[in-house]
Amino acid sequence: MCGIVGFNGYRQAAPILLEGLSKLEYRGYDSAGLAVRNGTADVELVKAKGRLRALYEKTNGGMAMEGTLGIGHTRWATHGEPSETNAHPHCSDDRNVVAVHNGIIENYKELQEKLLRNGYRFYSQTDTEVAVKLIDYYFKKYKGGPVDAIARAMMRIRGSYALAVLFKDCPDEIYVARKDSPMVIGLAGDETYMASDVPAILKYTRSVYYIGNREIARLGKGTAEFFNIDREPVEKEPTEIKWDAEAAEKGGFEHFMIKEIHEQPKAVRDTINSAVTEEGTIDLSALQFTDEMIRNISNIQIVACGSAYHVGVAGQYVFEDLCRIPVRVELASEFRYRNPILDPDTLVIIISQSGETADSLAALREAKERGVRTLGIVNVIGSSIAREADHVFYTMAGPEIAVATTKAYSAQLICIYLLAIRFAAVRGNITEEKAAEMIAELRTLPDKIERILEDKERIQWFAAKFSTARDIFFIGRGIDYAITLEGSLKMKEVSYIHSEAYAAGELKHGTISLVEDGTLVIGSLTQKELYEKTLSNMVECKSRGAYLMGLTNYGNYSIEDTADFTVYIPRTDPHYTTSLAVIPLQLLGYYLSVTKGLNVDKPRNLAKSVTVE
Ligand code: AGP
Ligand code: GLU
Repeated sequence: MCGIVGFNGYRQAAPILLEGLSKLEYRGYDSAGLAVRNGTADVELVKAKGRLRALYEKTNGGMAMEGTLGIGHTRWATHGEPSETNAHPHCSDDRNVVAVHNGIIENYKELQEKLLRNGYRFYSQTDTEVAVKLIDYYFKKYKGGPVDAIARAMMRIRGSYALAVLFKDCPDEIYVARKDSPMVIGLAGDETYMASDVPAILKYTRSVYYIGNREIARLGKGTAEFFNIDREPVEKEPTEIKWDAEAAEKGGFEHFMIKEIHEQPKAVRDTINSAVTEEGTIDLSALQFTDEMIRNISNIQIVACGSAYHVGVAGQYVFEDLCRIPVRVELASEFRYRNPILDPDTLVIIISQSGETADSLAALREAKERGVRTLGIVNVIGSSIAREADHVFYTMAGPEIAVATTKAYSAQLICIYLLAIRFAAVRGNITEEKAAEMIAELRTLPDKIERILEDKERIQWFAAKFSTARDIFFIGRGIDYAITLEGSLKMKEVSYIHSEAYAAGELKHGTISLVEDGTLVIGSLTQKELYEKTLSNMVECKSRGAYLMGLTNYGNYSIEDTADFTVYIPRTDPHYTTSLAVIPLQLLGYYLSVTKGLNVDKPRNLAKSVTVE
């Protein structure tokens, strides 16, 4: 979480830093701060609690801060309340070292005690201040210069970090280092930019360097040199960013979330096209996943967090049904500490939009350590999971800015379907004809999603009616259960309405006691053989006073005898219904949030990329 930016050039730095931070605010937004250096003059620090706007006003849009080199931060507090004192940048007492940090220093207490014994005092509650003072300590003790001091600190620090550091003795340079938290560097002529994510620097350059794990960089004006933790130089090639800056702008929509909901037909189409040939066959060669590898898989473990985990839950049903391979889907935060039993022929699939989620990354490493094959389904090119997984299937969703995921989720589902169809065909579970038929149907999904979006006003109306709801229950069976998990999460994230997703048959084992007059129960019924079962469970709720919303396929009109309000989705292959049924639920969450006047794109307490445990 949190966003970091840096600039070193010949123009006034602060306005550029503020603009970069505005593109990263989705990563954290409880306070923000800037450190700007004007030649050899003392560094200037300005911080403000609250949204970036406060810092903007305090610095007159950056104009009030002189200097052509600086670093900035927008915080998502982990250690210490959001306050001006705890906001970054942090500095050593003599301001010799000033830094911003993204991540968590796990052993900060132990390091703090060491520093206290050496005469350091602390003004904030953050782990970051400890890291800053540790660097200062090594800088003064060994006199080996910034790279040496940072490397020594890195050897002592446990946890995750992206750090941008200024040293009084090197007024023309910014130093950066990272471990498990993202950081990109861009050069444009005699200017250098640095940020936690590409959108913050895309306006200035498309050629970026990804600094590796446990690496350090020295950034001059238009130069970047890289070092490993042993202080040895590392050669790096820049990566060209293909997507355009507009993809990360709102483009006429009121919020990123609704814009991204509308981008789903494209995200789905682009992801299909990335792996389906003109002849209509699936080609996994970009993933370097051979047929032999597919034949050897004994079981699949899907590991992810949040919405990506919900893709895994849907994926479990799809894989098991189509390929008859046993699948287990697990939350990354559980998997990593479970001491998992992994057969050597297990395939571990890690799903992550950002490719930086700390738990998912740790799960990936755990799986690799145990010697099993790993495949990442990732949206952000060059992210840690993309770089470390044995095989990568990129979702073609483009940059996703709203904290609540929509288009990346939809693109992830497509990757799962494509893998499942290919695996099933190679392993002989389905014929090539059946595979071709399924691919043809897959290609109809973008238009079907478009059709659902055209009907969004009905959902808007319904949202207005239920904006004061306190509890909502989502129920479904099988794939419909997976759908409700995501529908419920969307609801909670952006509308702050409590909701629960329940396997429809499980409600009567306890939770139905919460259903009372007027409770909204949303039933998802897209699977033919489970339709009547779930309908009965809805009737059970209705008998206890519930108001029922049904979500089902066109044609299932008998639902209107039971449900008070129904949303229909176009028919498709039953394995794909998640892709369609989720759309009205995303819209419902969105419109409830808008009706309640909430901050849709940046819901409270959340951040887009969760780089802490
Ligand atoms: C989705 O709306 C959430 N904000 C969150 O659950 C997210 O899916 C989760 O944190 C995983 O993120 P990732 O895909 O970047 O790994
Ligand atoms: N751990 C640091 C803090 O609490 C950084 C958090 C972040 O990544 O924003 O300030």
